[in-house]
Amino acid sequence: MTPSQKINIGLLGYGTVGSNVYGLLESQAGEIEKATGASISISRIMVRDPSLPRAGAPSELFTGNFDDILSDAGISIIVELIGGVEPAFDYVTAALEQGKAVITANKQLLSRQGFYLFRLAQDKKTQIRFEASVAGAIPVIKVLRESMVAAGLKSIYGIVNGTTNFILTEMSRTGVRYEDALARAQEWGYAEADPGEDISGKDAAAKMAILASIAFHTSVGLEDVTCAGIENVSRRDIAYARELGLTVKLLGVARLYDDRINVRVYPALIKQDHPLASVSGAYNAVFLKGAAIDEIMLSGPGAGGTETASAVVSDIISAVARRESPGFLEYPVAYRNLDFFPDEEVVSTFYLRLEVEDEPGVLAAIASAFGKHGVSIESVIQKGRGARAELVMVFHPVKESRFAAAIKEAGGLEVVKSTPRPIRVEGSHDDGQ
Ligand code: HSE
Repeated sequence: MTPSQKINIGLLGYGTVGSNVYGLLESQAGEIEKATGASISISRIMVRDPSLPRAGAPSELFTGNFDDILSDAGISIIVELIGGVEPAFDYVTAALEQGKAVITANKQLLSRQGFYLFRLAQDKKTQIRFEASVAGAIPVIKVLRESMVAAGLKSIYGIVNGTTNFILTEMSRTGVRYEDALARAQEWGYAEADPGEDISGKDAAAKMAILASIAFHTSVGLEDVTCAGIENVSRRDIAYARELGLTVKLLGVARLYDDRINVRVYPALIKQDHPLASVSGAYNAVFLKGAAIDEIMLSGPGAGGTETASAVVSDIISAVARRESPGFLEYPVAYRNLDFFPDEEVVSTFYLRLEVEDEPGVLAAIASAFGKHGVSIESVIQKGRGARAELVMVFHPVKESRFAAAIKEAGGLEVVKSTPRPIRVEGSHDDGQ
């Protein structure tokens, strides 16, 4: 038997995910060595304060100095788990410049600087891998890069933020208020350090930028993703949706329109029998739809220490397995240069709850405002609330620019007493989903 090659890794960050990566590499060492023919271990760990006592790794591995890792010629792979754009960008750039392979879980970094880093890795004939940056334990990047090459992908959509899915699930399941559900999500460790990133949809937008880039081989940055969060989803909407057989989810949607692409994140209502409706708690699910594959759904834990660590370790294994042949399946991420398809031209179905005066002619006035813009009402339910009433409306599919004009007009009517906040309904017409 030939002796295993020894591979040393430098780890940046030793939080929940970092310590679990260390633990998995230790506990699964035998399996990993069988799969790769290499003995892989973490030989240095960079943390802010190396003097603090830590469980797991021996204290002599810790350093506060990135140069100790960068200048160590024995380290061929750097795993970046510190998150955020700076100083992660400098560390990753320096590692790639030296030809070291980089594994990162950093969606903030990749959704802003990904294309620079992908190109740099290619120029330096090394690898950058980022499975853990999207959807936790779900191996979606690898599936897109390797298994979908000939699938003719047309759309990729799903639930890519665990915190908001947890919050919406809790609100629907128990009727708790948004703030209480968020506090619970933070307690369980799903939320980002700044939960605003989750709530506003920005975390999901960063992940969709990465997924869309990989799926459609084109450059999509965070700024190219239109995003709305769950701040305005009310308990009333959730309750009415349930009456209509619908459930609320924060969806990421990336879709090809011929040779143009549209990428967005928004809260959407989906039918309760749609497979996404049963994805609950902090779970994520991604649908891939393409000419050759019909539809594939990948689902699993979207966050969590061991779960995210599992994705990081899978990247380490791939990086080691490909160390002799970086050309194989290391094709450029963005070899097409697609234009964007404007949001206003997308055809969508909308749900709308309006608080109105409960008087004769009100419904007719509202229907006429929508009718004027060619927006057709599919169903309307009126709920009495004293002198006021609530209209819960669902519309036929319509171009979004038209709907926006109709909403503006209807919202301006004297009899309308609330700010109209429509929610898209997905999976209900032939929109490619
Ligand atoms: N805050 C993220 C989420 C964690 O809720 O999905 C994983 O990126």
